[in-house]
Amino acid sequence: MTDSPYPELKKTHTMAHTGRPWRDRKPPPSAGVWGVIQGFGNYWTLVAAIDLGVFDAMESNQVNTAALLAKELDVGLEPLRHLLDALVSLGYCDQVNDFYELTETSERYLTTNGPASMAALVRGAPGPHQNWTQLASTIRTGIVREPVENDMAAFYGPLVEATYPTQLRASTRLGLRLGWTRRPNLKVLDLGAGMAPWAIGVLQSSPGSTAVINDIPGVIELAQKTINRLDLSARVEFRPGSFHEIDIEKDQYDIVVLGNVCRTEGDHLSQSLIARAHEGLKQGGSILVVDYFADNTRKFNPFGVQMGLTMLANTKRGGMLTNEQVVGWLKRAGFGAIRLMEPIGVHFVYVADKTPRAFTN
Ligand SMILES: C[S@@+](CC[C@H](N)C(=O)[O-])C[C@H]1O[C@@H](n2cnc3c(N)ncnc32)[C@H](O)[C@@H]1O
Repeated sequence: MTDSPYPELKKTHTMAHTGRPWRDRKPPPSAGVWGVIQGFGNYWTLVAAIDLGVFDAMESNQVNTAALLAKELDVGLEPLRHLLDALVSLGYCDQVNDFYELTETSERYLTTNGPASMAALVRGAPGPHQNWTQLASTIRTGIVREPVENDMAAFYGPLVEATYPTQLRASTRLGLRLGWTRRPNLKVLDLGAGMAPWAIGVLQSSPGSTAVINDIPGVIELAQKTINRLDLSARVEFRPGSFHEIDIEKDQYDIVVLGNVCRTEGDHLSQSLIARAHEGLKQGGSILVVDYFADNTRKFNPFGVQMGLTMLANTKRGGMLTNEQVVGWLKRAGFGAIRLMEPIGVHFVYVADKTPRAFTN
């Protein structure tokens, strides 16, 4: 009896080198399946903690014990202690004896006023939750039960508020890399702007810059409120309506932004948007296509694949965007000097220039 189906491999492929070979004598662990099953509970643990205000309360208190927090949040001590223990197991809290404190992750991302707060995003990012329970049927029939397009303003209003801090961080960092502060009077068109984090990134960096901000009625008011709050309204024109239909002046803009919009539009409409952006740009102006792209083989970047599946589960036309696909769109529209930047982790931006045909790559 041999000790392995491939004894020759044992010389280099020992447990110490590569772990236990699967399909050897011992079956693989079930942890990979449990991880997904428990992921469901982990998600709702985080939602509950945010809904109850656990992270915000812990941030504002000097000292946190389960008893003090239960009193402050007006919930039962034992269930709360259990929730806190789960948060410790997930790495969102640290615990010493009966004292709990926030980890750097929860301080930064899960408190409402954290510097990069994602607190509101946790509920909204997956889209309408019930669509996920119907994913098999969506894949079978191609029909999404409650597509976000049914009531765009109701879905996108809370979503763009939730994503604003993250997107503003991304746009500010991109601006640093592209040197917007050294380029005065930039003229930007932000299509499907949401709360306008991308236009605001330009307005706050480039002295004398101006912006045309577009979104649908019901969402554009949120951008107006933000622009007023930041005292930028003198430099902004709001252009409500569908980005497929609004008037766009030809050869006018230094920057046109498609910020997280292509992934819901599908191939045909995305190409049409990119072509509209090209027309609107001055010679030498740049398009920014911001999204969570997947690699060409769709296997090395799980984040891009999962974001694509979120679109499949929740939208009528949306899906995964691969690097190859987007670069193809940009080239076909006539863009050159195409480069891919990653201002914050896993969130990418294609920057491409309107150049004379001879210079397109
Ligand atoms: C995922 S959000 C992105 C918002 C913003 N660009 C950002 O990056 O934070 C998509 C935005 O596109 C807007 N949108 C979707 N379809 C649109 C259309 N046909 N015309 C104009 N805006 C649209 C939505 O209302 C929403 O604000």
